[in-house]
Amino acid sequence: MVTGTPGPCVGNIAPIERLNFSGLCLHDGPLAIRQAIYASVFPAELSVAASWDRALSHQRGLYMAREFRGKGAHVALGPVVGPLGRSPFGGRNWEGFSPDAYLSGELVAQTVEGIQAAGVQATTKHYILNEQETQRNPSVNANGTTIEAISSNVDDKTMHETYLWPFANAVHAGTASIMCSYNRLNGSYGCQNSKTLNGLLKDELGFQGYVMSDWLGTHAGVASIEAGLDLDMPGGIFFFAGSPSYFGGNVTLAVNNGSLSSGRIDDMVLRIMTPYYFLNQDKDYPPIDGYTSKIGFFPAANYVDNFTLGPIVDVRQQAHTKLIRDLGAAGTVLLKNFNSSLPLRKPKNIGVFGNDAADFTQGQYSLAISSDTVLADGNYDIGTLAVGGGSGTGRFTYVVSPLDAIKARAQSYGALTQYITSNDFIAGGGIAALAPVPLDVCLVFLKSWASEGADRTTLVAEWNSTVVVEKVTAVCPNTIVVLHGAAPNVLLPWANNPNVTAILAAHMPGQETGNSLVDILWGDVDPSGRLPYTIAKNETDYAKNLVNSTALLETTDPNAWQADFVEGNLIDYKEFDAKNSSVAYEFGFGLSYTTFNISNIQITGAPANASRRPNPSAPTLPGGNVELWETLATVSVTVTNTGSVAGSTVPQLYLTFPAEADAPTRSLRGFDKVALNSGASGTVQFPLMRRDLSYWNVVTQDWTLPVGNIEVSVGFSSRDLPLTGNLAV
Ligand code: BGC
Repeated sequence: MVTGTPGPCVGNIAPIERLNFSGLCLHDGPLAIRQAIYASVFPAELSVAASWDRALSHQRGLYMAREFRGKGAHVALGPVVGPLGRSPFGGRNWEGFSPDAYLSGELVAQTVEGIQAAGVQATTKHYILNEQETQRNPSVNANGTTIEAISSNVDDKTMHETYLWPFANAVHAGTASIMCSYNRLNGSYGCQNSKTLNGLLKDELGFQGYVMSDWLGTHAGVASIEAGLDLDMPGGIFFFAGSPSYFGGNVTLAVNNGSLSSGRIDDMVLRIMTPYYFLNQDKDYPPIDGYTSKIGFFPAANYVDNFTLGPIVDVRQQAHTKLIRDLGAAGTVLLKNFNSSLPLRKPKNIGVFGNDAADFTQGQYSLAISSDTVLADGNYDIGTLAVGGGSGTGRFTYVVSPLDAIKARAQSYGALTQYITSNDFIAGGGIAALAPVPLDVCLVFLKSWASEGADRTTLVAEWNSTVVVEKVTAVCPNTIVVLHGAAPNVLLPWANNPNVTAILAAHMPGQETGNSLVDILWGDVDPSGRLPYTIAKNETDYAKNLVNSTALLETTDPNAWQADFVEGNLIDYKEFDAKNSSVAYEFGFGLSYTTFNISNIQITGAPANASRRPNPSAPTLPGGNVELWETLATVSVTVTNTGSVAGSTVPQLYLTFPAEADAPTRSLRGFDKVALNSGASGTVQFPLMRRDLSYWNVVTQDWTLPVGNIEVSVGFSSRDLPLTGNLAV
């Protein structure tokens, strides 16, 4: 029950026939049932974050999980809120939502609830401070010395206010499982850290489910179990010869020789089995899909247990496809729209450029960390980037490429589409091959790759993207640039080029990417995405927050890899606000095809009368002390669509705390997605819970309401905040 075994899924708990228990099947990942065929590839969490849409986040979780369930997977290895995105170079940031803890927290809660509403267990990962890929695991140097994994070293305040925050939302939402991370933190391995597992997660947050290790992230037996690890994955020695499990028979030995109490084993099993019964997985759960065994983690010859496999089933649904298309569009951010060049008004001669425009040319699967790599590690040239690589990817059954969707749309009204998808050819002057020029509009597609296992080396779109834009803008005064892939993309030097009339950050939209984009380009859908991160002017404007060097790669010191989170809470916009430095496009920013006005701020509630700390004798339920989740104040505003077309916007609420809280200049504490017809108005309410208004007091070790006034700012981005008010606390 507590140790994985070779089987047809990425993680397997063996069946126990005597108890009529058919085992547990665990599968990646955060955007698809990754290894399956006849399954859908959904937008990445990055796109969900850019949509700022709680309802779509929930629906995505639900639909995705129905596909897991249909294929007999009991446990989905997602969602991700670690990495949170401390470093803009983080290779896995796109698997998670946003470097803003509040935004991530709201969206992860919806995702967990959506997944579990389908009867599938959610695994919120990777707990915690898994903020870089470089040296995420220990390595062995040339002398045979084990060099330990990076240690993320953080203070208590930052831990609570930034990195633990979204995990608290996931626990509050009922996540069945939490996956502990590969890295060390404050010196101890993530799956062997009693402070974070027993202390923060199980005691403080009241987590009642099980902690499972990341794959081969367990580095001890009894010590890990006593630190709070409940389940070792993948367990077993068969796949990784020479890597016997610290669990398995060793656990039995430890109980028999008295070094581990059987009570703790009971606790582990209770934690593992509770979600199984709670979600009714003992009743009519579909069998494990027959195909996964052929492509799974473990060679079928190594199975030691009898897994019953069902037929190969198609779990795709029209409703899923529609959601994917809608969410892909909702997660697309319009950054620039000079002279309203978008939406397109039936241009007759359309140019499409760039290696990101076309269909895949090197297969449909980007598991760059394994031998079954098809779309290899960012070295695939021509082919659109619809999701990132690694265990967080998905196997596409198809993709609607941007080029295909544009061609279809153009053809519907008799327009001409001309295209060059080789960046080399464009850079070499190939545009001359097109006729007739001038083109009415040029669409340039750029991509930024990211994958598990490596951090990004640049924040500028790859494949000679700057030259590609230069060449196109030289002949095309109406050039629209579309960015796919990891964020942030640093847009300079061409963002202010007058011939770049519009820019769309389209993120990672999944299998319907072309359709999602065409819906925005031709104005069927208003661009309602907003940046869930900051785009700086230069790469060097960001704190890199990434530990890597040649010296470290050659170190002989096992403890050499140390990442001190000295910036505390000041990541992403909080860093730029603290420095008061200008950025290209700020957190929360995004344009629409219409315009909005915001007015009439009202603040109700009396947090000043509330006790400074939650009542210590109030119950701790999943999520922590229940009083933390009680609403103490509500802010409301009126939003009006002042333009001529229907559209959606995202009013955002930020708080500025008194000095006592030692908080960032502004912290997001409310948002909503509002659809309004031209001329229509709506009221938006932002409920503020005790936790939203508190800071973590390291002396009292509790969430504490500061004394004084909290400044409330509401508007359309972190730097466009026309409404302000005061909340007496
Ligand atoms: C990743 C996890 C994943 C696991 C199983 C690990 O390398 O970090 O996110 O769930 O592999 O594929």
